[in-house]
Amino acid sequence: MVSRVIPVDPFDLVIFGGTGDLARRKILPGLFRRFIAGQMPAGARIIAAARTEMDDDGYREMIAEAITEFGGLKNIPEDKLTAFLAQLSYVTIDAKGTDGWAALQELMKGTDRVEAYYFSVSPALFGDLAERLQQWGMADKDARIVVEKPFGRDLETAKTLNATLATYFDESQIYRIDHYLGKETVQNLMAVRFGNMLFEPLWNAQYVDHIQITVAETVGVGGRGEYYDKSGAMRDMVQNHLMQLLCLIAMEPPARFDPDAVRDEKLKVIRALDPVLPHHIARGQYDAEPGNAEAQPNYRDAVGDPRSKTESFIALKTHISNWRWAGTPFYLRTGKRMSARSSEITVVFKETPHSIFAEDAGRHRNVLSIRLQPNEGITLGVTIKEPGPGGMRLIDVPLDMSFAEALGEDTEQVDAYERLIMDVIRGNQTLFMRGDEVEAAWAWTDPIIQGWEARGEVPKFYDSGSDGTVESGELMRRDGRAWREVSP
Ligand code: BG6
Repeated sequence: MVSRVIPVDPFDLVIFGGTGDLARRKILPGLFRRFIAGQMPAGARIIAAARTEMDDDGYREMIAEAITEFGGLKNIPEDKLTAFLAQLSYVTIDAKGTDGWAALQELMKGTDRVEAYYFSVSPALFGDLAERLQQWGMADKDARIVVEKPFGRDLETAKTLNATLATYFDESQIYRIDHYLGKETVQNLMAVRFGNMLFEPLWNAQYVDHIQITVAETVGVGGRGEYYDKSGAMRDMVQNHLMQLLCLIAMEPPARFDPDAVRDEKLKVIRALDPVLPHHIARGQYDAEPGNAEAQPNYRDAVGDPRSKTESFIALKTHISNWRWAGTPFYLRTGKRMSARSSEITVVFKETPHSIFAEDAGRHRNVLSIRLQPNEGITLGVTIKEPGPGGMRLIDVPLDMSFAEALGEDTEQVDAYERLIMDVIRGNQTLFMRGDEVEAAWAWTDPIIQGWEARGEVPKFYDSGSDGTVESGELMRRDGRAWREVSP
């Protein structure tokens, strides 16, 4: 199935931090793929701005290499690459000083088109960049800014950041990225829920026993130890990505699929979240890979702090106190160095109120599982008769729909960043976090973190390649439930 490409008008995209990791791995390769798909118009300009001294040609060379390494393309059409690179330019700039700003201003002068400024830099520089853009006359009311996570490290810092950006830009100009919202299947959550009659009537505490959200990764902290050790899984993954998944799975149907209608509903979910009790949290830190400790060291060696108390794994149980969900637990789990890379949301329905089949002693529940990555798809577990004679015994079998099979292997996979950048250009904020949403997420997260800090809790160790700590399993077992197997 070939995707429909909706063209956009020529635009100017300035990428601060244009030589950084994110720009080289995600942003520029993503833009190149949009270029190949015919979505990036010929007149569009991408202007990278960073501290490194470099000229346009040097930058183009850097990006050609990045596209080869990270572009995920089997063949790179040379003519397309040359044409794409011709649309790139580079400005050496000092975010905190004055160097380079006149040159950037000159480039941006007098163009009557969408102007987007991507802050692909440390959040410590967001305020400086916003202020400079205003000083140099580039923060006009049509400009858009794109900011990355981490958006603050707690409620207070997030509020300060929001207030700083609000000094120079209106909320309608600010695009806060959570790249999970750009994933194809994450949007499919909304399509499945609100495009089908089948599920919504059952989507509540009366029929749903519990919901599980798992985002398991096989990678460790890699070269990001310094950042990660100050964050941990709660700040790095739960406060943003898992929270967004929780919102999409639990929110009320918005009246329209428009930015504020969707974000209003998500915000209501976050605000209805209960505080999490200490014994409903299991934190872990990974051990070295057995027999391969040098290449895959334990967490503390990886971050260079033998006493680190930061968690690389967390499992927790929470509730949403509203009419739809009162009494239905939501179990969240995420971690690094787990047995497989797998993100999945599972809705476990209740058992039938009464079994009419005397021979059957089993407990049968319908399970709807939405696999976000890899192997995107939906599985619905249904109960049927076990084949053969000998009475009416029941078994559970999956009705399995792999999207790749259903839609064709060649369905174009659009990376989250490609989609989100194009949404910025189109001016669609639906898949971006609003300031109040981010603050509400921190307001829920802060007391959880403060709680374990005050109790001086140290995460438990778990084996690399396992599915987290023993306590995480206990969290479920105590409730008579079990985690879904983490499978690739
Ligand atoms: C990032 C986190 O936001 O998401 C990383 O900072 C994590 O720690 C990554 O590895 C996971 O993203 P994805 O798209 O690979 O699931």
